[in-house]
Amino acid sequence: MAIENRQIVLTSVPENELKASHFELQVTPMPQASEGEVLVKTLYMSLDAANRAWMRGPSYRDAVVAGDVMPTFCIGLVEQSTDTTIAVGSIVETEGVWADYFLVKGDSLKVVPNTQPLSHLLSVRGIAGKTAYFGLLNIGQPQAGETIVVSGAAGSVGTLVGQIGRIKGCRVVGIAGSEEKCTWLVDELGFDAAVNYKSGNLFKDLKANCPNGIDVYFDNVGGTVLETVLYHMNLKGRIVCCGAVSQYDSSNPAGPRNLPGLVVVKRLRMEGFIAFDFPEHEAKADADLASWAANGSIKVVEDVVDGLENAPEALVGLLNGENRGKRMVRVASS
Ligand SMILES: NC(=O)c1ccc[n+]([C@@H]2O[C@H](COP(=O)([O-])OP(=O)(O)OC[C@H]3O[C@@H](n4cnc5c(N)ncnc54)[C@H](OP(=O)(O)O)[C@@H]3O)[C@@H](O)[C@H]2O)c1
Repeated sequence: MAIENRQIVLTSVPENELKASHFELQVTPMPQASEGEVLVKTLYMSLDAANRAWMRGPSYRDAVVAGDVMPTFCIGLVEQSTDTTIAVGSIVETEGVWADYFLVKGDSLKVVPNTQPLSHLLSVRGIAGKTAYFGLLNIGQPQAGETIVVSGAAGSVGTLVGQIGRIKGCRVVGIAGSEEKCTWLVDELGFDAAVNYKSGNLFKDLKANCPNGIDVYFDNVGGTVLETVLYHMNLKGRIVCCGAVSQYDSSNPAGPRNLPGLVVVKRLRMEGFIAFDFPEHEAKADADLASWAANGSIKVVEDVVDGLENAPEALVGLLNGENRGKRMVRVASS
């Protein structure tokens, strides 16, 4: 094992757009596990729009502040363990940091099966899959024949929401940030239609592609896209509040101006959720997602960037819409 470790620190908190220059790669001595600790070798790090939101202040987790080694959800390999319940060589999922190796308390690790490919543990069988599954099915509760609209449709959660919606017999319309992404959603992932929110015609394009209105809106972006979708919601429609990526990377976020008016008039239900809210349904969700991926009902789209040192640029690129599907960094092979 190496005697040095590389880690990436957030050196200053951005006021506006995140840039790679907000991070610094540092070389430190290899950490050693003391009582109760486990040394984990990072294999895959999840890159998420939420990483940027964590820098804005406390949320469902503590805020990330200047000087922190950048946290991440990741898949790793146990290299050293002083915890008798965690064997060396185990594959684990945990919150880690942007580093080749990191220490963590044994009781905060989850040992997972050595699934192949391991990357699925961050995509279809990871938080992205659970977020899409629980958000759409438990919160959105779509019925066959209904119309679902999903924003951030070409991203990690959105690609899965659309495909699960099709499995459930719904008309699925995606919202994404380029014509290329929209064509790809229809041609490759089987969406019924997709509209480009950057075209300047979102209101008209939604009207044309949702002739029966919208029953379920899976909202990944908030802001003006949410405002526009609200006008097309049907009576008793459901809005799944999953995230607000349009608000994360700006000091001047714009909110919808038609709330709560349209929620009242159309008797809408808007409900937020976090992927971890349904522990009692985890096993069923994992079984469904694994079988849909295995039998081809879901195409798993992964966008893998190689090299720890490339994580800052890859996160900035994700916030700018570079990714298709689940973006992650492969730090090492097991
Ligand atoms: N509730 C939960 O438990 C939970 C769990 C995981 C993720 N989330 C949330 O789910 C949402 C989607 O996450 P993800 O991992 O699927 O996303 P992702 O793969 O990281 O993709 C983010 C996409 O957002 C789009 N985007 C960026 N800026 C935008 C803007 N101003 N307006 C509209 N779209 C914009 C970009 O695509 P375009 O080219 O289309 O702009 C980008 O590719 C995020 O809000 C995230 O915070 C919630």
